[in-house]
Amino acid sequence: MTQFTIAVLPGDGIGPEVTAEAERVLRAAADRFGIGLALPHYPVGAGAVTAAGSPLPADTRAAVIKADAVLLGAVGDPALDSAPRELKPETGLLALRSLLGVYANLRPVSIHPALAGHSPLRPDRLHGVDLLIVRELTGGLYYGEPRGKNAVVAVNTLRYSVAEIERVARVGFESARRRRRMLTSVDKANVLEVSQLWRETVTRVGREFPDVRLEHLYVDYAAMRLVAEPAALDVVLTENMFGDILSDEAAVLVGSLGMLPSASLGAGPGLFEPIHGSAPGIAGQGIANPIGAIASVAMLLRYGLKLAEPADAVEAAIRAVLDAGGRTKDIAGPGEPALGTQEMGERIAKVVRSTPLARSRSPRRGEGVRG
Ligand code: IPM
Ligand code: MN
Repeated sequence: MTQFTIAVLPGDGIGPEVTAEAERVLRAAADRFGIGLALPHYPVGAGAVTAAGSPLPADTRAAVIKADAVLLGAVGDPALDSAPRELKPETGLLALRSLLGVYANLRPVSIHPALAGHSPLRPDRLHGVDLLIVRELTGGLYYGEPRGKNAVVAVNTLRYSVAEIERVARVGFESARRRRRMLTSVDKANVLEVSQLWRETVTRVGREFPDVRLEHLYVDYAAMRLVAEPAALDVVLTENMFGDILSDEAAVLVGSLGMLPSASLGAGPGLFEPIHGSAPGIAGQGIANPIGAIASVAMLLRYGLKLAEPADAVEAAIRAVLDAGGRTKDIAGPGEPALGTQEMGERIAKVVRSTPLARSRSPRRGEGVRG
Protein backbone atom coordinates (compact mmCIF):
# COMPACT_ATOMS: atom_id res chain seq x y z
CA MET A 1 0.00 0.00 0.00
CA THR A 2 1.40 3.41 -0.90
CA GLN A 3 1.93 5.43 2.24
CA PHE A 4 1.43 9.17 2.05
CA THR A 5 2.19 11.72 4.74
CA ILE A 6 -0.11 14.72 4.85
CA ALA A 7 0.99 17.52 7.17
CA VAL A 8 -2.20 18.85 8.77
CA LEU A 9 -2.15 22.48 9.98
CA PRO A 10 -5.58 23.21 11.52
CA GLY A 11 -4.70 26.79 12.53
CA ASP A 12 -7.06 29.26 14.18
CA GLY A 13 -10.75 30.03 14.68
CA ILE A 14 -12.95 27.62 12.74
CA GLY A 15 -9.80 26.09 11.18
CA PRO A 16 -9.64 23.11 13.61
CA GLU A 17 -13.39 22.42 13.30
CA VAL A 18 -13.50 22.31 9.51
CA THR A 19 -10.15 20.51 9.30
CA ALA A 20 -11.41 17.73 11.58
CA GLU A 21 -14.21 17.08 9.09
CA ALA A 22 -11.84 17.30 6.13
CA GLU A 23 -9.68 14.67 7.85
CA ARG A 24 -12.71 12.52 8.53
CA VAL A 25 -13.55 12.50 4.82
CA LEU A 26 -9.91 11.97 3.85
CA ARG A 27 -9.72 8.92 6.11
CA ALA A 28 -12.97 7.62 4.65
CA ALA A 29 -11.54 7.95 1.13
CA ALA A 30 -8.27 6.33 2.20
CA ASP A 31 -10.11 3.36 3.71
CA ARG A 32 -12.41 2.98 0.75
CA PHE A 33 -9.68 3.17 -1.88
CA GLY A 34 -6.88 1.46 0.02
CA ILE A 35 -4.57 4.43 0.47
CA GLY A 36 -2.11 4.45 3.37
CA LEU A 37 -2.12 7.79 5.17
CA ALA A 38 -0.29 9.42 8.04
CA LEU A 39 -1.84 12.70 9.20
CA PRO A 40 0.50 14.36 11.70
CA HIS A 41 -0.61 17.77 13.04
CA TYR A 42 1.52 20.92 13.33
CA PRO A 43 0.83 24.42 14.65
CA VAL A 44 0.46 27.49 12.43
CA GLY A 45 -0.97 30.98 12.90
CA ALA A 46 -2.04 32.59 16.17
CA GLY A 47 -2.01 29.29 18.04
CA ALA A 48 1.59 28.77 16.98
CA VAL A 49 2.52 32.26 18.18
CA THR A 50 1.17 31.35 21.63
CA ALA A 51 2.69 27.86 21.67
CA ALA A 52 6.03 28.46 19.98
CA GLY A 53 6.49 32.22 19.58
CA SER A 54 6.20 32.13 15.78
CA PRO A 55 3.29 31.87 13.34
CA LEU A 56 5.29 29.27 11.38
CA PRO A 57 7.56 27.44 13.87
CA ALA A 58 10.69 25.58 12.78
CA ASP A 59 9.14 22.15 13.41
CA THR A 60 6.21 23.00 11.16
CA ARG A 61 8.55 24.27 8.45
CA ALA A 62 10.65 21.12 8.58
CA ALA A 63 7.57 18.88 8.43
CA VAL A 64 5.78 20.54 5.53
CA ILE A 65 8.70 20.45 3.14
CA LYS A 66 9.05 16.71 3.47
CA ALA A 67 5.31 15.92 3.42
CA ASP A 68 3.49 14.66 0.33
CA ALA A 69 0.94 17.46 0.71
CA VAL A 70 -0.19 20.02 3.26
CA LEU A 71 -3.77 20.46 4.47
CA LEU A 72 -4.49 23.79 6.14
CA GLY A 73 -7.56 25.07 7.97
CA ALA A 74 -7.39 28.83 8.43
CA VAL A 75 -5.25 31.41 10.21
CA GLY A 76 -6.11 34.73 11.81
CA ASP A 77 -6.95 36.20 15.18
CA PRO A 78 -8.26 39.74 15.69
CA ALA A 79 -6.27 39.90 18.94
CA LEU A 80 -3.10 39.97 16.83
CA ASP A 81 -4.29 42.59 14.32
CA SER A 82 -1.87 45.17 15.59
CA ALA A 83 0.95 42.77 16.48
CA PRO A 84 4.33 43.28 14.79
CA ARG A 85 4.41 41.71 11.34
CA GLU A 86 6.60 38.75 12.35
CA LEU A 87 3.99 37.74 14.93
CA LYS A 88 0.90 38.03 12.75
CA PRO A 89 -0.85 34.77 11.83
CA GLU A 90 -1.13 35.93 8.19
CA THR A 91 2.66 36.25 8.08
CA GLY A 92 2.85 32.54 8.91
CA LEU A 93 0.58 31.68 5.99
CA LEU A 94 2.54 33.86 3.57
CA ALA A 95 5.80 32.34 4.80
CA LEU A 96 4.33 28.86 4.32
CA ARG A 97 3.29 29.61 0.72
CA SER A 98 6.71 31.04 0.04
CA LEU A 99 8.56 28.13 1.69
CA LEU A 100 6.61 25.61 -0.39
CA GLY A 101 7.03 27.74 -3.52
CA VAL A 102 3.36 27.31 -4.37
CA TYR A 103 3.08 30.02 -6.99
CA ALA A 104 -0.17 28.87 -8.62
CA ASN A 105 -3.33 29.05 -6.54
CA LEU A 106 -6.32 27.30 -8.10
CA ARG A 107 -9.74 28.39 -6.90
CA PRO A 108 -12.56 26.62 -8.74
CA VAL A 109 -16.04 28.09 -8.51
CA SER A 110 -19.04 26.10 -9.65
CA ILE A 111 -22.59 26.22 -8.45
CA HIS A 112 -24.56 23.35 -7.12
CA PRO A 113 -28.00 23.76 -8.76
CA ALA A 114 -29.80 23.38 -5.45
CA LEU A 115 -27.92 26.39 -4.07
CA ALA A 116 -28.52 28.79 -6.96
CA GLY A 117 -31.46 30.31 -5.09
CA HIS A 118 -29.21 31.04 -2.15
CA SER A 119 -26.99 33.53 -3.96
CA PRO A 120 -27.99 37.20 -3.89
CA LEU A 121 -27.68 37.12 -7.71
CA ARG A 122 -30.58 36.13 -9.91
CA PRO A 123 -30.56 32.35 -10.53
CA ASP A 124 -30.61 32.84 -14.34
CA ARG A 125 -27.26 34.65 -14.11
CA LEU A 126 -25.78 31.67 -12.29
CA HIS A 127 -26.85 29.02 -14.74
CA GLY A 128 -23.74 27.29 -16.10
CA VAL A 129 -21.21 29.04 -13.87
CA ASP A 130 -18.04 26.95 -13.82
CA LEU A 131 -14.89 29.00 -13.56
CA LEU A 132 -11.39 28.61 -12.23
CA ILE A 133 -9.42 31.47 -10.77
CA VAL A 134 -5.68 30.94 -11.16
CA ARG A 135 -4.13 33.37 -8.72
CA GLU A 136 -0.38 34.05 -8.60
CA LEU A 137 0.46 33.35 -4.97
CA THR A 138 4.09 33.98 -4.12
CA GLY A 139 4.79 37.41 -5.60
CA GLY A 140 3.29 40.83 -6.11
CA LEU A 141 2.31 43.30 -3.39
CA TYR A 142 2.21 40.66 -0.68
CA TYR A 143 5.94 40.04 -0.94
CA GLY A 144 7.44 43.03 -2.77
CA GLU A 145 10.40 44.89 -1.32
CA PRO A 146 10.88 47.60 -0.23
CA ARG A 147 8.04 47.64 2.25
CA GLY A 148 7.46 49.36 5.55
CA LYS A 149 5.56 51.93 7.51
CA ASN A 150 6.28 54.81 9.82
CA ALA A 151 3.98 57.42 11.35
CA VAL A 152 3.64 59.46 8.17
CA VAL A 153 4.17 57.14 5.23
CA ALA A 154 3.89 53.48 4.28
CA VAL A 155 5.20 51.56 1.27
CA ASN A 156 4.43 48.29 -0.47
CA THR A 157 5.88 47.26 -3.77
CA LEU A 158 4.21 45.56 -6.71
CA ARG A 159 6.92 43.71 -8.52
CA TYR A 160 6.80 40.79 -10.98
CA SER A 161 9.50 39.27 -13.14
CA VAL A 162 8.89 37.71 -16.55
CA ALA A 163 9.77 34.29 -15.10
CA GLU A 164 7.17 34.61 -12.33
CA ILE A 165 4.48 35.62 -14.82
CA GLU A 166 5.40 32.90 -17.32
CA ARG A 167 5.19 29.98 -14.91
CA VAL A 168 1.76 30.90 -13.55
CA ALA A 169 0.51 31.76 -17.05
CA ARG A 170 1.45 28.22 -18.16
CA VAL A 171 -0.64 26.76 -15.33
CA GLY A 172 -3.52 28.97 -16.49
CA PHE A 173 -3.27 27.90 -20.13
CA GLU A 174 -2.79 24.23 -19.26
CA SER A 175 -5.87 24.40 -17.03
CA ALA A 176 -7.87 26.08 -19.81
CA ARG A 177 -6.86 23.28 -22.15
CA ARG A 178 -8.55 20.76 -19.88
CA ARG A 179 -11.65 22.94 -19.58
CA ARG A 180 -13.47 25.19 -22.08
CA ARG A 181 -10.27 26.59 -23.63
CA MET A 182 -10.80 30.21 -22.68
CA LEU A 183 -8.45 32.26 -20.58
CA THR A 184 -9.21 35.71 -19.22
CA SER A 185 -6.09 37.47 -17.97
CA VAL A 186 -6.83 40.26 -15.51
CA ASP A 187 -4.56 43.26 -15.02
CA LYS A 188 -4.47 47.04 -14.78
CA ALA A 189 -2.29 47.63 -17.83
CA ASN A 190 -3.82 51.06 -18.49
CA VAL A 191 -2.07 52.34 -15.36
CA LEU A 192 0.61 49.94 -14.08
CA GLU A 193 3.90 48.98 -15.75
CA VAL A 194 3.82 45.68 -13.90
CA SER A 195 0.50 44.94 -15.59
CA GLN A 196 1.94 45.88 -18.99
CA LEU A 197 4.68 43.30 -18.48
CA TRP A 198 2.03 40.85 -17.27
CA ARG A 199 -0.06 41.37 -20.40
CA GLU A 200 2.92 41.11 -22.80
CA THR A 201 4.17 37.97 -21.09
CA VAL A 202 0.77 36.26 -20.98
CA THR A 203 0.27 37.09 -24.65
CA ARG A 204 3.64 35.54 -25.51
CA VAL A 205 3.01 32.38 -23.47
CA GLY A 206 -0.41 32.22 -25.14
CA ARG A 207 1.26 31.64 -28.52
CA GLU A 208 2.24 28.19 -27.19
CA PHE A 209 -1.48 27.53 -26.69
CA PRO A 210 -3.13 28.54 -29.97
CA ASP A 211 -6.14 26.36 -29.11
CA VAL A 212 -6.92 28.50 -26.04
CA ARG A 213 -8.82 31.75 -26.61
CA LEU A 214 -7.10 34.55 -24.70
CA GLU A 215 -8.71 37.81 -23.61
CA HIS A 216 -7.33 40.57 -21.39
CA LEU A 217 -9.53 42.51 -19.00
CA TYR A 218 -8.78 45.40 -16.68
CA VAL A 219 -9.45 44.38 -13.11
CA ASP A 220 -12.23 46.91 -12.54
CA TYR A 221 -14.16 45.63 -15.54
CA ALA A 222 -13.36 42.01 -14.58
CA ALA A 223 -14.91 42.61 -11.15
CA MET A 224 -18.07 43.72 -12.90
CA ARG A 225 -18.11 40.87 -15.41
CA LEU A 226 -17.68 38.35 -12.62
CA VAL A 227 -21.11 39.19 -11.23
CA ALA A 228 -22.78 40.44 -14.43
CA GLU A 229 -21.93 37.51 -16.67
CA PRO A 230 -20.11 34.85 -14.63
CA ALA A 231 -21.07 31.92 -16.85
CA ALA A 232 -19.05 33.43 -19.70
CA LEU A 233 -15.79 33.01 -17.75
CA ASP A 234 -13.66 29.88 -17.86
CA VAL A 235 -10.13 30.37 -16.50
CA VAL A 236 -9.35 33.72 -14.87
CA LEU A 237 -5.59 34.31 -14.55
CA THR A 238 -4.40 37.10 -12.33
CA GLU A 239 -1.80 38.41 -9.92
CA ASN A 240 -1.85 37.86 -6.18
CA MET A 241 -3.85 40.80 -4.83
CA PHE A 242 -6.37 41.00 -7.67
CA GLY A 243 -6.91 37.24 -7.29
CA ASP A 244 -7.49 37.60 -3.57
CA ILE A 245 -10.20 40.18 -4.15
CA LEU A 246 -11.85 38.49 -7.13
CA SER A 247 -12.02 35.13 -5.39
CA ASP A 248 -13.99 36.52 -2.45
CA GLU A 249 -16.25 38.23 -4.96
CA ALA A 250 -16.70 34.91 -6.78
CA ALA A 251 -17.82 33.32 -3.52
CA VAL A 252 -20.96 35.46 -3.73
CA LEU A 253 -21.95 33.41 -6.77
CA VAL A 254 -21.97 30.25 -4.70
CA GLY A 255 -23.79 31.89 -1.84
CA SER A 256 -21.16 31.24 0.83
CA LEU A 257 -17.43 31.64 1.30
CA GLY A 258 -17.60 28.36 3.21
CA MET A 259 -18.09 26.33 0.03
CA LEU A 260 -14.90 27.10 -1.85
CA PRO A 261 -11.69 25.05 -1.86
CA SER A 262 -8.24 25.86 -3.15
CA ALA A 263 -5.07 24.15 -4.25
CA SER A 264 -1.73 25.93 -4.25
CA LEU A 265 0.82 24.25 -6.47
CA GLY A 266 4.48 24.62 -7.26
CA ALA A 267 7.42 22.28 -7.66
CA GLY A 268 7.18 20.65 -4.20
CA PRO A 269 4.33 19.58 -1.92
CA GLY A 270 1.04 21.32 -2.64
CA LEU A 271 -0.93 23.30 -0.07
CA PHE A 272 -4.68 22.72 0.16
CA GLU A 273 -6.99 25.03 2.07
CA PRO A 274 -10.51 26.41 1.97
CA ILE A 275 -10.53 30.01 0.79
CA HIS A 276 -12.37 31.27 3.88
CA GLY A 277 -10.62 32.72 6.88
CA SER A 278 -10.69 31.81 10.58
CA ALA A 279 -14.16 33.36 11.11
CA PRO A 280 -13.57 34.12 14.81
CA GLY A 281 -17.19 35.25 15.19
CA ILE A 282 -18.50 31.70 14.79
CA ALA A 283 -15.49 29.70 16.02
CA GLY A 284 -16.12 26.99 18.58
CA GLN A 285 -19.85 26.81 17.94
CA GLY A 286 -19.80 23.79 15.62
CA ILE A 287 -21.76 25.61 12.92
CA ALA A 288 -19.08 26.40 10.32
CA ASN A 289 -19.49 24.94 6.85
CA PRO A 290 -16.78 22.29 6.32
CA ILE A 291 -17.48 21.86 2.58
CA GLY A 292 -14.69 24.24 1.47
CA ALA A 293 -12.23 22.22 3.56
CA ILE A 294 -13.64 18.89 2.37
CA ALA A 295 -13.55 19.99 -1.27
CA SER A 296 -9.91 20.98 -0.62
CA VAL A 297 -9.31 17.34 0.34
CA ALA A 298 -10.63 16.36 -3.10
CA MET A 299 -8.12 18.76 -4.65
CA LEU A 300 -5.39 17.31 -2.41
CA LEU A 301 -6.17 13.82 -3.66
CA ARG A 302 -6.31 14.92 -7.29
CA TYR A 303 -3.41 17.35 -7.55
CA GLY A 304 -1.33 16.53 -4.49
CA LEU A 305 -1.40 12.73 -4.58
CA LYS A 306 -2.49 12.29 -8.23
CA LEU A 307 -5.35 10.04 -7.18
CA ALA A 308 -8.26 10.92 -9.44
CA GLU A 309 -10.77 8.28 -8.41
CA PRO A 310 -10.94 9.07 -4.67
CA ALA A 311 -10.97 12.79 -5.58
CA ASP A 312 -14.02 12.23 -7.79
CA ALA A 313 -15.65 10.23 -5.00
CA VAL A 314 -15.26 13.06 -2.48
CA GLU A 315 -16.70 15.59 -4.93
CA ALA A 316 -19.58 13.27 -5.78
CA ALA A 317 -20.29 12.76 -2.07
CA ILE A 318 -20.48 16.53 -1.48
CA ARG A 319 -22.98 16.82 -4.35
CA ALA A 320 -25.00 13.87 -3.08
CA VAL A 321 -25.34 15.32 0.42
CA LEU A 322 -26.38 18.70 -1.00
CA ASP A 323 -28.84 16.95 -3.35
CA ALA A 324 -30.34 15.20 -0.33
CA GLY A 325 -30.91 18.59 1.30
CA GLY A 326 -27.96 18.63 3.71
CA ARG A 327 -27.27 22.27 4.64
CA THR A 328 -25.08 24.04 7.15
CA LYS A 329 -26.39 27.32 8.58
CA ASP A 330 -24.69 29.54 5.96
CA ILE A 331 -26.43 27.76 3.06
CA ALA A 332 -29.74 26.90 4.70
CA GLY A 333 -32.77 28.72 3.40
CA PRO A 334 -35.18 30.48 5.75
CA GLY A 335 -36.81 27.88 7.99
CA GLU A 336 -34.61 25.08 6.60
CA PRO A 337 -33.01 22.95 9.33
CA ALA A 338 -29.23 23.29 9.52
CA LEU A 339 -26.62 20.62 10.16
CA GLY A 340 -23.66 21.25 12.39
CA THR A 341 -20.08 21.12 11.12
CA GLN A 342 -19.55 17.57 12.34
CA GLU A 343 -22.88 16.23 11.06
CA MET A 344 -22.11 17.60 7.61
CA GLY A 345 -18.66 15.95 7.69
CA GLU A 346 -20.15 12.65 8.85
CA ARG A 347 -22.75 12.63 6.10
CA ILE A 348 -20.18 13.24 3.39
CA ALA A 349 -17.78 10.65 4.86
CA LYS A 350 -20.56 8.09 4.94
CA VAL A 351 -21.30 8.55 1.23
CA VAL A 352 -17.57 8.29 0.44
CA ARG A 353 -17.39 5.00 2.36
CA SER A 354 -20.16 3.55 0.22
CA THR A 355 -18.77 4.70 -3.14
CA PRO A 356 -18.91 1.87 -5.69
CA LEU A 357 -15.37 0.92 -6.67
CA ALA A 358 -14.21 0.89 -10.27
CA ARG A 359 -12.95 -2.42 -11.67
CA SER A 360 -9.33 -1.92 -10.64
CA ARG A 361 -8.70 -2.56 -6.92
CA SER A 362 -5.83 -0.08 -6.61
CA PRO A 363 -6.45 3.65 -6.84
CA ARG A 364 -6.27 4.96 -10.38
CA ARG A 365 -3.34 7.33 -10.83
CA GLY A 366 -4.20 10.78 -12.10
CA GLU A 367 -2.85 12.09 -15.36
CA GLY A 368 0.02 13.78 -13.62
CA VAL A 369 -1.41 17.15 -14.53
CA ARG A 370 -0.79 20.37 -12.77
CA GLY A 371 -3.60 22.81 -12.39
C1 IPM B 1 -6.73 34.05 1.26
C2 IPM B 1 -6.62 34.89 2.51
C3 IPM B 1 -5.17 35.26 2.74
C4 IPM B 1 -4.68 36.03 1.53
C5 IPM B 1 -4.89 36.04 4.05
C6 IPM B 1 -5.39 35.31 5.26
C7 IPM B 1 -3.44 36.40 4.19
O1 IPM B 1 -7.43 36.03 2.40
O2 IPM B 1 -6.15 32.95 1.22
O3 IPM B 1 -7.37 34.49 0.30
O4 IPM B 1 -4.89 37.25 1.45
O5 IPM B 1 -4.08 35.41 0.64
MN1 MN C 1 -8.60 36.15 0.57
